[in-house]
Amino acid sequence: MKICVIGPGYVGLVGAAIFADMGNQVVGLGKNKEKIDKITKGVMPIYEPGLSEIILKNVKEGRLKFTTSATEGIKESNVIFICVGTPQGDTGAADLTAVMAVAKEIGNNLNGYKVIVTKSTVPVGTNERIEHVVQENMPKGGEFDVVSNPEFLREGTAIEDMRNTDRIVVGAKNERALKVMRELYKDFDAPMMECDLRSAEMIKYASNALLATKISFINEIGQLCERADANVQVVAEGVGLDKRIGRAFLNATGVGYGGSCFPKDVAALYKTSTDQAYDFKLLRSVMEVNELQKFNFMKKITKAMDDNLSGYTFGVLGLAFKGDTDDIRESGAIKMIRMIRGHGAKLRVYDPAAMENTKKVLGHDGIYYSKDMYDTLEGVDALCIFTEWNEFKSIDLAKSKKLMKGSLLFDARNLLDQKAVEGAGFIYIAVGKRTNGYTEDGDIVSTAILRNGK
Ligand code: UDX
Repeated sequence: MKICVIGPGYVGLVGAAIFADMGNQVVGLGKNKEKIDKITKGVMPIYEPGLSEIILKNVKEGRLKFTTSATEGIKESNVIFICVGTPQGDTGAADLTAVMAVAKEIGNNLNGYKVIVTKSTVPVGTNERIEHVVQENMPKGGEFDVVSNPEFLREGTAIEDMRNTDRIVVGAKNERALKVMRELYKDFDAPMMECDLRSAEMIKYASNALLATKISFINEIGQLCERADANVQVVAEGVGLDKRIGRAFLNATGVGYGGSCFPKDVAALYKTSTDQAYDFKLLRSVMEVNELQKFNFMKKITKAMDDNLSGYTFGVLGLAFKGDTDDIRESGAIKMIRMIRGHGAKLRVYDPAAMENTKKVLGHDGIYYSKDMYDTLEGVDALCIFTEWNEFKSIDLAKSKKLMKGSLLFDARNLLDQKAVEGAGFIYIAVGKRTNGYTEDGDIVSTAILRNGK
């Protein structure tokens, strides 16, 4: 098939790479010439393991190319994927400016029947608006169908997620469009769910919102566990064994969920509900709990430091919103660093992939960007782990203890083994469980003696 993928971001690049790799003729369309030239040479604008290799291979074998020419990209293809961003607007709703601009462009270049497939996450009713805009801009007699085909890939495992997706959701209005979609996905080993446009649009939001709800739920269970002296990790294991619930997305964290999707999509769905004169109370709480989670973790830090962070230095491992990505959008780590710095502390920070992105938003004021994990620990009074990179899991605790001045370790991801950390002489404070950083009454320890490890 001849495919045009508009928007070389996460979804667009991964989609272009995989459809080309499956034998289709694919052209990726973007606006920025420099970016497009780099992609063609295998230099990706995003950090995604394995992506560059697949793109280079398919460019070399002649199935994939990238262009800034809308005419070339659209006219040559019979299936057009819309994969541009839908960032959060001022009202919380998804900003559809880029989607509608693309719809206009497609209309302007319509030559013969095309299936226009929306992969961008868009609110209910958007595909009908796209249809309208294309109609308004196309030449007389133009023929096309719109299809909603939401994408469920996660950053860091995007290629695997798209190739081995659990389901392919296709919202369409007629058999003509469905036939093309069945052909397009015929080699994927996943059930295709065919439905109406609006339900397909809603499936994407409902999926992300439900996953975010699971996270906020387990984060609140974690709050209770700390108070009641239970262990949230054990509870998640036990609850997750119930097949009806499942273990996934039940990892409590001190920094809440982040990234370019959950915060934006939950807010957009909430906005959709208020637009429909419905107050989605559960979603409101999901968002509120997610924000509170960071403040609650910050409270633990300040309590352990006797409410005085000024003059102390914190080591921070992890800046990205989760492991295996350089993405810091809505990253809980960045928000925590801002709070710690706001309390007058200095920081030494490290992330295997997100250093450059972080420098751009946090600058250098009060922050030293470390060379590696252990450089971060040199002389720090306390260490925080904010992102679940595998590299941090295997940290040498004895070596770390020697490098640090103090002995406080705040693990906002429950990444480390409690016994090992406590055994190495740290005062350990994590999420949803009591540790040696708590008094018998369940309060956070707060002595300067412990803090300095004397
Ligand atoms: C998400 C959806 O999973 C994906 O289907 C959709 O297409 C895009 O949004 P992504 O944002 O890449 O993907 O990351 P994901 O792995 O889902 O994690 C989102 C956030 O939730 C991260 O901050 C992560 O750390 C957090 N999380 C995840 C938890 O706090 N606990 C968990 O148990 C799982």
